[in-house]
Amino acid sequence: MSSTDRKIDKLIDLLVKNATVVVPGPKIASEIGVTRFRVHNWIDDLRTQGVEIRGFPAEGYQLVTIPDILVPSLLRTELGDHPIGRNIVHFFRTDSTNAEALKLAANGAEHGTVVVAEEQTAGRGRLGRVWFSEKSSGIYTSIILRPALAPSAAPVLTLMAGLAAQKAVTTVTGLSVDIRWPNDLLVNGKKVCGILTEMSAEVDRLHAVVLGIGINVNHSLMPTELENIATSLRMEAHRGISRVQVLVTLLREIERHYQLLLKGGNKAVTGRWEAASSFAHGKRVRVVTAAGEALATTTGVEPSGALKIQYDDGRNESLVAGEVVEVK
Ligand code: BTN
Repeated sequence: MSSTDRKIDKLIDLLVKNATVVVPGPKIASEIGVTRFRVHNWIDDLRTQGVEIRGFPAEGYQLVTIPDILVPSLLRTELGDHPIGRNIVHFFRTDSTNAEALKLAANGAEHGTVVVAEEQTAGRGRLGRVWFSEKSSGIYTSIILRPALAPSAAPVLTLMAGLAAQKAVTTVTGLSVDIRWPNDLLVNGKKVCGILTEMSAEVDRLHAVVLGIGINVNHSLMPTELENIATSLRMEAHRGISRVQVLVTLLREIERHYQLLLKGGNKAVTGRWEAASSFAHGKRVRVVTAAGEALATTTGVEPSGALKIQYDDGRNESLVAGEVVEVK
């Protein structure tokens, strides 16, 4: 599966810029530098992605509505000239954007490179789980960061990403969004966003961190096995949500929160995280780690990003891995 041909992106850009008129096939072909036959095939492919394009025999093509697909031309116009999102690699379909981003990072991709897909065939979740990645419904994106930090900074980068995602979702939808440690976003107690941080590092230096973010945006229902624990923004807001708007806002917020971390240090992030999450203090949780499960109460977040908990038997611990589930 290869990334989207830049010329398809140009084709969409051309149709968007001429949205009110019928654009002749030969004009499109000559402007993007391909044959009319190729234009015709690409238009058919775009229709299968849900892009509504009307065809007028012997006249040309016209876009019916501005498409909500995550191609660079539609995202770039909304992003300023910041490192995050300066380089965007789009896939209509790939196995996992994290896998693609790790490959790109190993080949020297610059800080801020964003990989995004309309569909994933093997989306990866935390703790070896699968991430449900329905075509054109969610946001499946991975952002490559190259911080001059030690590998021990990875947990706080993860919290930073959760904060940025929370801000983006709230801004676009107006929904009230909680963060469950380390970085699941919950709306009305159900998960709408998960983040998988992967990295390549030496003992004392991070080469690259990949923030893999999955957001359930326009799913109209969740698969049966997930319906009690997961939801989508559309299902909670009772209206369709622009994926382009959510992704653009997310990338801007990641830029802003990343700068906050670099300038203000870990505590600038963990302090905000504690204020933004109902899980930081006094939450009754079931702690699930490789060692097993136990009940505990949360008592704050360490500057390192670890979650402080007190087990029911009185022991205190700072959790660096695993997950917590609210006990009601
Ligand atoms: C979790 O288990 O909560 C983390 C889910 C992370 C899913 C995203 S979707 C984009 C990126 N690519 C992947 O394969 N996984 C992450």
